[in-house]
Amino acid sequence: MLKNRDLPSSSEVKAHQRIIVLNAEITAANQDYHQFDAPRISDAEYDALKQELLAVETAFPSLKSADSPSEKVGAPASEGFSKVKHRVPMLSLENAFDEGDVGDFEDRIRKYLGYQGALDFTAEPKIDGLSLSLRYEGGELVSAATRGDGAVGENVTTNAFYISDIPQFIDSAPPVLEVRGEVYMSHGDFAALNARQTALSDKLFANPRNAAAGSLRQLDPLVTKARPLRFFAYAWGEVSAPLAGTQFDAIEKLAAYGFVTNPLMRRCDGVTALLAHYEEIAHMRADLGYDIDGVVYKINDLALQERLGFRAATPRWAVAHKFSAELAWSELLGIDIQVGRTGALSPVARLRPVTVGGVVVSNATLHNQDYIAGRSSKGALIRQGGDIRIGDHVQIYRAGDVIPKIKDLDLAKRPAWSVAFVFPEHCPECGSVALREEGDAVHRCTGGLICPAQAVERLKHFVSRGAFDIEGLGAKQIETFYHDTLLPVKTPADIFTLQARDAVHLLQKLQNRDGFGAKSVTNLWSAIDEKRTIAFEKLIYALGIRHVGEASATLLARHYGDYPQLEDAMMAATPHQGPVWDDLLSIVGIGAVLANSVIAAFQSSAERAAIQALVRELTILPTQAVAQSGSPIAGKTVVFTGSLERMTRAEAKARAERLGAKVAGSISAKTDCLVAGSGAGSKAKAAQALGILVLDEAAWLALISDI
Ligand code: IVH
Repeated sequence: MLKNRDLPSSSEVKAHQRIIVLNAEITAANQDYHQFDAPRISDAEYDALKQELLAVETAFPSLKSADSPSEKVGAPASEGFSKVKHRVPMLSLENAFDEGDVGDFEDRIRKYLGYQGALDFTAEPKIDGLSLSLRYEGGELVSAATRGDGAVGENVTTNAFYISDIPQFIDSAPPVLEVRGEVYMSHGDFAALNARQTALSDKLFANPRNAAAGSLRQLDPLVTKARPLRFFAYAWGEVSAPLAGTQFDAIEKLAAYGFVTNPLMRRCDGVTALLAHYEEIAHMRADLGYDIDGVVYKINDLALQERLGFRAATPRWAVAHKFSAELAWSELLGIDIQVGRTGALSPVARLRPVTVGGVVVSNATLHNQDYIAGRSSKGALIRQGGDIRIGDHVQIYRAGDVIPKIKDLDLAKRPAWSVAFVFPEHCPECGSVALREEGDAVHRCTGGLICPAQAVERLKHFVSRGAFDIEGLGAKQIETFYHDTLLPVKTPADIFTLQARDAVHLLQKLQNRDGFGAKSVTNLWSAIDEKRTIAFEKLIYALGIRHVGEASATLLARHYGDYPQLEDAMMAATPHQGPVWDDLLSIVGIGAVLANSVIAAFQSSAERAAIQALVRELTILPTQAVAQSGSPIAGKTVVFTGSLERMTRAEAKARAERLGAKVAGSISAKTDCLVAGSGAGSKAKAAQALGILVLDEAAWLALISDI
């Protein structure tokens, strides 16, 4: 019989479940990274998973699985390459994330050695590439192998012959010499490779590490040959005679043999010096021209390294002090102004490319004029008022993995030639005046549809999901058609006249035109035809009127029912006065700013002409109030006033709408019913005066209760 204490405690059960999940996630991430060269989580997320697994395993050692990924390096060598067994295992490094971890690293070493005297280290960049082990026998390169799972790697010897940093022969080398280091791709070569891939419509690489891995792990060595890879030597495996007495001298020896070693390796006499060098390297990171993701500290004395030895997968004598994954320094090369769909001028930072959280970043948002000048939208100082200038060293972060932003500036590094950025007063695309309205942080181009940038962005919005969503006609094709001289698409209506205009089947003949073949042209015509019939609310949304999103488009559609009613009302409306304005504002959810924007769109003759030309091409399905058959309030306009006791106003409104009613904010001749909660005042009187049905909360609930 099981005694109570034999049963696992609930925390043990939870820990076990967590270990299973973490094992699975880490194993999958290892495969994505090492075998498929296609990571799906950032390095920081990966590190966090591993840290958590280590913590749970430390707390519950009995739960640790025999093949725990906390003790593994990389992933098994993939099929396709022959295998190489490493005579000395290729290990990984333990990570340190802050100064405390670095202090702990030193303390552990001292404790292990029982030593309180001076300790020398080396510190050098941690190259973000993939490790390679090169075996020389009698000075001749006989094998090159990837790390694989640390014990067995992939044989990429032929490919290594095409990496010019790797010597094929070494003069006066020891009989056996295994040199280890990192294969990587420079930023310049990475950009050029991706540009070539784009030209060939081939797969793009997410970052230089993936590009390097994808280029080295090629079964066809000619592919490797065409990809410029580089190699830094920083360690060794089997050697028939010791290279030197210290790490530093051993690396110098490798340099003397003809290997490229990293020029930023320094000797450091303690943690303070290590951290100082870390800061220095962190600041140089953006200018190095290749990716690094931290600084590696190693005990300099090789006799001490020998004494310290290894844990399961990592040496005790080294640690990788990682950079915070979401932050990186770069240089501001320029400021471009992009013009959006509604004419907003958005300043964009052009950066020297830098990897932030596993993704190469070369742009960041600069928001608006105030942000660049060092002020928030409310006038408060940001960055202590430091303005952002071209030439500045800027710190980049990725907020929630979306558009990169600038976190900080290094004013000490500001070049003498830099000048304050002058925000343009004119649209860079069409030259129209760019106005900054009172209370608005944004400059807006006043060119409307004559502005090509606005026109293209509006067309992209028009075909986007939620709007017309025309298959085969996305942002890329819109760009092409917009600039096309023979079959241009300048306004939404042009999309629907395209086929008729192409009487001579030009599109079909231009087989090579951006992704258009004979079949896709036929498909495009039917995809366009399919959308000639469109729901009224989708049409309103697709027009891309400023402030009108999907929800407000639906409100407008429900209120006006069909297109002619909307157009008539907007043409008759006067902002801020009269019954049409009041009626528009009576729609709950439609405010004055949005109402003004819709009226302005219809009352501008150019805009109206474009809308009318479009409408002529379409069959617009009227919007019914969401009628529920049998609902006594379907199609009725209901107004709520006073406070309800049984439900919130929002809930009451949602419920009424579900039953097919329109809920308005104020009483008008169109109101069918007023629901008056307690404390109802003037509205109840107004309704009674108009002869409108007034219900109290109980009567209202009774009316809708059995539905
Ligand atoms: S020393 C016993 N030095 O980082 C381990 N590794 O996360 C010897 N790496 O597997 C490795 N730069 O692929 C060392 N300067 C450097 C490095 C470096 C990059 C890689 C290496 C290693 C991994 C550990």
